[in-house]
Amino acid sequence: MLNRNVLTILLISSFIVLLAACSQNTDVSVDNNPPNTITDNESAKEQDDEEPEEDSVVEEEELVLPSQELQKGDQGEEILLLQKALIKLGYEISPSNVYDSETVWAITDFQIQTEKLFITGIYDEPTRTALEELLEKEKTITPGEGLPLIEEENLDEDTVVIANPYEVLSLVNKQHALPKDYVPSDLVYPEVRFPFVEELPKRQMRKIAAEALEKMFADADLESLDLFAQSGYRSYERQDVLFASYVSNHGEEEANTFSARPGESEHQSGLTMDVTSPHVNYALVVEFGETEEGIWLEEHAAEYGFIIRYPKGKEAITGYQYEPWHLRYVGVKAAKEIMERGITLEEYLEELLEI
Ligand code: DAL
Ligand code: ZN
Repeated sequence: MLNRNVLTILLISSFIVLLAACSQNTDVSVDNNPPNTITDNESAKEQDDEEPEEDSVVEEEELVLPSQELQKGDQGEEILLLQKALIKLGYEISPSNVYDSETVWAITDFQIQTEKLFITGIYDEPTRTALEELLEKEKTITPGEGLPLIEEENLDEDTVVIANPYEVLSLVNKQHALPKDYVPSDLVYPEVRFPFVEELPKRQMRKIAAEALEKMFADADLESLDLFAQSGYRSYERQDVLFASYVSNHGEEEANTFSARPGESEHQSGLTMDVTSPHVNYALVVEFGETEEGIWLEEHAAEYGFIIRYPKGKEAITGYQYEPWHLRYVGVKAAKEIMERGITLEEYLEELLEI
């Protein structure tokens, strides 16, 4: 009897314990889904955000410089890469995908500051190598130390003074003058024939143009042509004297058709050479265009980066008479397009800058 009572008590106690356990389990499950779940998740997320630094180390973007030659007006992703490299070196330029005047300035400044580079404003193979070397060594440059970054300035109502006289695609004409004190720093004496022996300043050209002229003369020699150089670099002061003498002999209106006012002559840029031949008695005359030498130049000058700057029929655009002798260096790419299409530098640049 006692045993049965004990058994009954044990059974009842077990039942009560079981009930209590069930009720506790219910509570536990409620605790697992508290109303503040979102907060908990957010704090979990916050914790995630604060995860150890090692996962969030930003890898340095490796800059691969463009391999092709680039110049003013060019567009594309590769321009952005070039601009990022220039920014890394210290240039404060705005990245875009256009080779704009800021990019021309930065490249020109870099070339002036880097020994052995041609100063052109064009991104070429040697410029790429020099940029890569500097980036590899994690060096920077002092922007503007070679060519200060300035704006074009108004000289008068019709003319501005250009900001970058060193770029080979600079426009120098009646509306765009060179700075009065501009003397190119890289003038040299090209080794070509002149019809005089004196070492006059007018024998000089800028390095890039001088080398191209030498190559062109050497190739013309192979064709048994008789090319002679006549007049290259001319200072602002020399142009002033020349223009004044033409005005006094011919009057200002006529002088303006064949001679530039000081500051407006491409001869001051050091990128120009007047050429001639014995067939016109070494003179700078329209008939030169009909000589073997004149015809060969019309066909081949562009291969060396030169254009006939004042073509026949374009007087209204250039502002000058036809001058088959006046060669201007602009680089091979631009020269080929200008000569093949029969356009002027004015037209070529207007198209480029309208993009
Ligand atoms: N004959 C060209 C226009 C000059 O004087 O520069
Ligand atoms: Zn000339």
